[in-house]
Amino acid sequence: MNPLNDLLQARLLQGPIPAAEVMALGLYHPEHGYYRRSTGPWGFEGKDYYTALDLGPLLGQTLALRLEAAWERLGRPPRFTALEPGAGRGWLGRDVLNAVSGPFAEALVYVHQDDNPAAKKAAQAALMPFLTANRARFATEAEPLEPFIGAVFSNELFDALPAQPWRWNGEGWAREVLTVAGPQWQEADPGEAGAWFAAQSDGLEPGDGSIWCEALPGLVQDLAGSLEAGLFLAVDYGESAARLLAKGADLRRFKAHSVDGKWHEDLGEADLTADVDFTRLAALLEEEGLTDLSHLELSKWVRTHAPLDQWGAQWLSLPTSERMKRTENLLQLTLPNMMGSRFRVLEGWKGKAV
Ligand SMILES: C[S@@+](CC[C@H](N)C(=O)[O-])C[C@H]1O[C@@H](n2cnc3c(N)ncnc32)[C@H](O)[C@@H]1O
Repeated sequence: MNPLNDLLQARLLQGPIPAAEVMALGLYHPEHGYYRRSTGPWGFEGKDYYTALDLGPLLGQTLALRLEAAWERLGRPPRFTALEPGAGRGWLGRDVLNAVSGPFAEALVYVHQDDNPAAKKAAQAALMPFLTANRARFATEAEPLEPFIGAVFSNELFDALPAQPWRWNGEGWAREVLTVAGPQWQEADPGEAGAWFAAQSDGLEPGDGSIWCEALPGLVQDLAGSLEAGLFLAVDYGESAARLLAKGADLRRFKAHSVDGKWHEDLGEADLTADVDFTRLAALLEEEGLTDLSHLELSKWVRTHAPLDQWGAQWLSLPTSERMKRTENLLQLTLPNMMGSRFRVLEGWKGKAV
C-alpha cells in the first residue's frame, strides 16, 4: 500500500483535512504522489485512465493548424515557441511536431514542462528525434522562462490542480473535508470562492455547489506572463461556472478505467480530478491582458478547425485498419458522450496581431 495512506491516517488524528489538501497530497506528494511516482499511470492496459492522446494523433493535428494560424497572425516570426505545461508523456507535442511542415516547422520550438518523473521518461523517448534536432526541449516547472512569442497550450493540466468542493445548504456554505469517519461537509467561510459562486448564479438552490481551485490565479499569471504575444489554448474537462454550480461539481477518482467519488481512497495510487471552471479561467486570463477569449465544446472546436473533408479523402487511401483508427479517433473527439461535450477548448490571444 502507498505510504501516503499511513501519513493521511496520522494527520486525520489531528482533525479534519479539507478535500483539496487530500488531493494535493495524493497527486503531488514529492515522493509518493500519483504524479510524482517513477512509474506512469497512463494508457489503456493495467492503467487508470486515458487521455485524448491515447486515441490517436487528430487532436495534435488540429492543434498544429491552430498554432500555424497563430504564427501567421503574428506575422510569421522566425522563432515560434510553443510551451506545454502539464505535458505528461509529450505525446501532444510529438503529434504537433509530426504534423507541421515547411517554414512553420522551421520556426516552431516545442517546450515540454512537467516535473512528473515517469512522464518525463516517456517524453524523452517520444520526443527523441525532435530533441536531437533542437526542435524540442524540456523546462522544469520552477524554471523562469524568458517571455516568448508563440503559444502556451495544455491538455488536462487544469483538471489536475488540487480543488476544493463547496456546497450551498440554503443558508450558508459547507466545504468537503475528510475525517476519521470518512468524508463530511463542514460549514466554513468560503471567502473569495463564495463571492465568485454567488456572482455566477441567479439564485442559489440547496445542493448547488462547485469546486474552487486556489492555485489557478498563480498558474495563470505565470503562464500568461511567459507569453509575450500569441495564442493561449487549453483543452480540459469542465464547463461554465453556472453549469458546474447547478450540477454540484465534485472531485472524481479514476482507477483502472472506472470513475467514482472516492477521492480519499488509494491515495497516491489513483488519479484525482476536478472539473475546470472555464468561466473563471477565462476571467483570470482577461485580468492578465488576454483578449478574444472563448471556449467551445471539443466537438465544435474540432469540427470548426480540422479540415475534415480533406482528411476524409486522405484516409480513403489508407489501409483499412489505419482508416478505422482515424475514424475512431474522430468519433472519440466529437461524439457528445465520449470526449466531444465533456471536454472544452479555451482560446485567447495576447498582444497585437500583425
Ligand atoms: C492529467 S495529467 C495530463 C498529462 C498530459 N497532458 C496528457 O494529456 O496525457 C496532468 C499533468 O500535469 C502536471 N502538472 C500539474 N501541475 C503542473 C504545473 N504547475 N506545471 C506543469 N505541469 C503540471 C502533472 O505532473 C501531470 O503530469
